[in-house]
Amino acid sequence: MDFNILRVARVVMNVTDLSNSRDFYVNALGFIETESDDQHIYLRGLEEHCHHCLVLKKAEKPGVHSIGYKVWHEDDLEKVERLFKKKALYTEWEEAGAQKALGRTLKAADPDGIPLEFFAKMETVERCLQKYDLYKGARMQRIDHVNCMVPDVGKTVAFYNDELGFRCSEYTATADDSIWAAWLHRKPSVHDVAFMNGEGPRLHHIGFWLSDPMSLIHACDVLASMGHADCIERGPGRHGLSNAFFLYIRDPDGNRIELYNGDYLTCDPDFEPVKWDINDPRRQTFWGHKAPDSWFSEATEFIDSVSGKPVAQSKAVLAQQKPDFVT
Ligand SMILES: [Fe+2]
Repeated sequence: MDFNILRVARVVMNVTDLSNSRDFYVNALGFIETESDDQHIYLRGLEEHCHHCLVLKKAEKPGVHSIGYKVWHEDDLEKVERLFKKKALYTEWEEAGAQKALGRTLKAADPDGIPLEFFAKMETVERCLQKYDLYKGARMQRIDHVNCMVPDVGKTVAFYNDELGFRCSEYTATADDSIWAAWLHRKPSVHDVAFMNGEGPRLHHIGFWLSDPMSLIHACDVLASMGHADCIERGPGRHGLSNAFFLYIRDPDGNRIELYNGDYLTCDPDFEPVKWDINDPRRQTFWGHKAPDSWFSEATEFIDSVSGKPVAQSKAVLAQQKPDFVT
């Protein structure tokens, strides 16, 4: 490929009550609210200089409008467009300013129908990394990754690696060596996007980077103090895969958010993908405890950019729907 995708940079998703969402994302988790109006809240982490990494959009029901990737240069956008057109995939241009703070944007859909956006520019704002007086809740630092359920992980990974230039850091295989899940990156970390086997496409979670594990523990205390303890779905714990410290929580609309800290550098060309057996409990949680069943069944649907309706979903192709230790 002749273009350079830098990293996953933003997600746009629906919420049904902006006030409840503000309480959760800003007051409990510690996002910075860059801007808002009566239909949107634009959020960023403390170390982010971009206007936002998460757009909450008021709507009747949950749904994800797009996963946004930042590219190195404006010229990359035409090159990405050429690829999607060659594959007969949807593309559409939006001029700079059509969406708040965003430069010229290429909207597209991947072969699974996941709505994507590519852009080179987003308005910049003050970076709050050393404004420690603003730190609260989980002290959110930046967007790290998204995780999507797709029906045929092998096929999806081939598109992202071979056509978009992603590299695999770790993957999970079934007994017959089919890829059950894969972690793919453009920035030099474990991932920008992960794909896992399941009915989809659906957004499983958005992962946000924290500066240290204690921020994550503190987030549990803050959530509990604010009466949100029931939103804690899984963790805290340490993943075997990625080595990251994690906590999974559900926002007031059920969207899954991961608080994440502590993966590793992956940029060397001789780095070989790490393989895990799907039935190895240390893969999910290094300490051995199990993910709940909801982890394998619940996720948020995507919204088609053209029709405004939910993106059609297909059943997973692999017979094994979850590890054999989850009952
Ligand atoms: Fe994750």
